[in-house]
Amino acid sequence: MTIRIEQQEAVNTAAPVAAVVDQKNKVGEVKEELVLDGGFVVPDKVVSSNGFAAPDINAFGNSFRNYNAENERQKTVENLYKQQHITQTLDFVKKMRAEYGKLDKAEMSVWECCELLNSVVDDSDPDLDEPQIQHLLQTAEAIRKDYPNEDWLHLTALIHDLGKILLLPQFGGLPQWAVVGDTYPLGCAFDESNVHHKYFAENPDSKNPAYTTKNGVYKEGCGLDSVYMSWGHDDYMYLVAKENKTTLPSPALFIVRYHSFYPLHRHGAYKQLMNKQDEEDIKWLHIFNKYDLYSKSKVHVDVDAVKPYYQSLIAKYFPGKKLRW
Ligand SMILES: [Fe+2]
Ligand SMILES: [Fe+2]
Repeated sequence: MTIRIEQQEAVNTAAPVAAVVDQKNKVGEVKEELVLDGGFVVPDKVVSSNGFAAPDINAFGNSFRNYNAENERQKTVENLYKQQHITQTLDFVKKMRAEYGKLDKAEMSVWECCELLNSVVDDSDPDLDEPQIQHLLQTAEAIRKDYPNEDWLHLTALIHDLGKILLLPQFGGLPQWAVVGDTYPLGCAFDESNVHHKYFAENPDSKNPAYTTKNGVYKEGCGLDSVYMSWGHDDYMYLVAKENKTTLPSPALFIVRYHSFYPLHRHGAYKQLMNKQDEEDIKWLHIFNKYDLYSKSKVHVDVDAVKPYYQSLIAKYFPGKKLRW
């Protein structure tokens, strides 16, 4: 079975990172890379020819995350965000977390879920029309080249999009606006860096004074852990990993939960809600994001060749049996 996901991710967030990537092979631009990461040191290998070299263009010859106005898909993307912005309220998010927090939909291993997700092709992604398992493995293998000792990060890459199984009928067959797209907090003012911000005006929460101040129901520095994020594949996979008691470290769970939180990790919005741990963890998300975006390729990873390695990581960080989903 093939599930077609029409559109996802942001429309207008392509430029800054694309600009940096265009400079990738110029030695003199390495400092820009470090600035982008807030001072966190990125290994030279990221920009060298020995390790993973981020390409300038995607498999179709376009720059990455390019959703310009002339793009024929642009309208569908906008409609996704319109639905998401109008429908996802704090109440909606709490209900989804309660429902999916039961983890009563299936029991399967991480690898079984990778194979299940293989039936999903993300039609919305302008950078790739390959099966999702290739995106997971391409991201993981690219990170593995540059960070060979961070095995937790390899596994994080493998699992980061598994939550997209929410699109499958046996997991509720949720609509796209409840599975993909950039994410943001509920219960506080919608920051203007959110794509298609204008549609939040039609969200019922915009009329609740308790939710329209900068911090809303939260306290400054409360930590993102206590923030309700818009519902999607990120928060679902975070719940699955956490409730199944993974031994993955804190930045791994941070990456899984916030990798679509572009308003924060691209624009610095909502950062007043972060605590000290978040500030450490986001450094790894900045690194991860480059590989998530730029490792997409037509060159397939040999699944059978790498499977034993990832099986060993799954056994290490998800000890025991099958996971509840
Ligand atoms: Fe994702
Ligand atoms: Fe991804």
